Amino acid sequence: MTAWRGADLISIRDLGREEIEKVLDRAQTIRPDSSLLRGRVMASLFFEPSTRTQLSFATAMERLGGSVIGFSGVEGTSIQKGESLYDTIKMVERYADVIVIRHPLEGSARFAADVAQIPVINAGDGANQHPSQTLLDLFTIRRFCGRLDGLSIGMVGDLKYGRTVHSLATALTHFEGVKLRLISPPLLRMPPRILEEELRGKIEFEETEELELSDLDVVYMTRIQRERFPDVEEYERVKGAYILDLEACRQLKPEAIILHPLPRVGEIDPEVDRLPQAKYFEQAASGVPVRMALLSLILLG
Ligand code: NCD
Repeated sequence: MTAWRGADLISIRDLGREEIEKVLDRAQTIRPDSSLLRGRVMASLFFEPSTRTQLSFATAMERLGGSVIGFSGVEGTSIQKGESLYDTIKMVERYADVIVIRHPLEGSARFAADVAQIPVINAGDGANQHPSQTLLDLFTIRRFCGRLDGLSIGMVGDLKYGRTVHSLATALTHFEGVKLRLISPPLLRMPPRILEEELRGKIEFEETEELELSDLDVVYMTRIQRERFPDVEEYERVKGAYILDLEACRQLKPEAIILHPLPRVGEIDPEVDRLPQAKYFEQAASGVPVRMALLSLILLG
């Protein structure tokens, strides 16, 4: 990819370091401006639950003067009558200038982009990818750590089904001297395909079950993705595998940061919120400027 204008954002693999930094730089300077996207329409098609992603995309669009149509959950739409994704996209592309889609099926966003004549942004396709989340994760890391090169980053929890860690791990291969520690129960390891095809030879990484945090600059906690387990018994065996509480945080360097894409369901004890290292709410706040930058680049260049 060379130009942002008119581009889709489906997988973080489509972006190089330069494209990533362009979004982060614009996100740092962009301010609400109701003339920028006036008259533009964003279609927000959420076939799966969402709070932050949906609301921050909508907020971003409105702060730039654009408007938002769409749905959250298929109840009340013709999808309940059996309408296909193809037909939904072919219709929505006639109503809007850009589509933001979240769908449980891996590959659904790519399919939507192939079908649509207007740009498509993947807001999460099953356990696969969540590239706009990665951009805001990187924005937050750069903001608090001052750089993206040379960091030690630990990812903790559900590395198998968590799409945010799949996208983030791949993005980190663009930066120099990053060390990745993949901390998970054996059942929830990062998929071998990602380890071998995306990470091996491109980034230093290790896999472990131990919650060893003392040398990390960034601790990226994740939720166990209950809804993606084919077998609930398997979920029962791994739920609560890692809980970051005040005791576990005693290992942390004072300048380390704790991130989580949220929602949390017990992985981070609320007592941790008052530690200076807790940055997950700042991370969620970054969703607005980062998505403002993304929408302005895609719609205006
Ligand atoms: C994540 C997601 O939907 O993948 N949430 C988000 O977008 N901030 C993480 C999750 O659901 O656990």
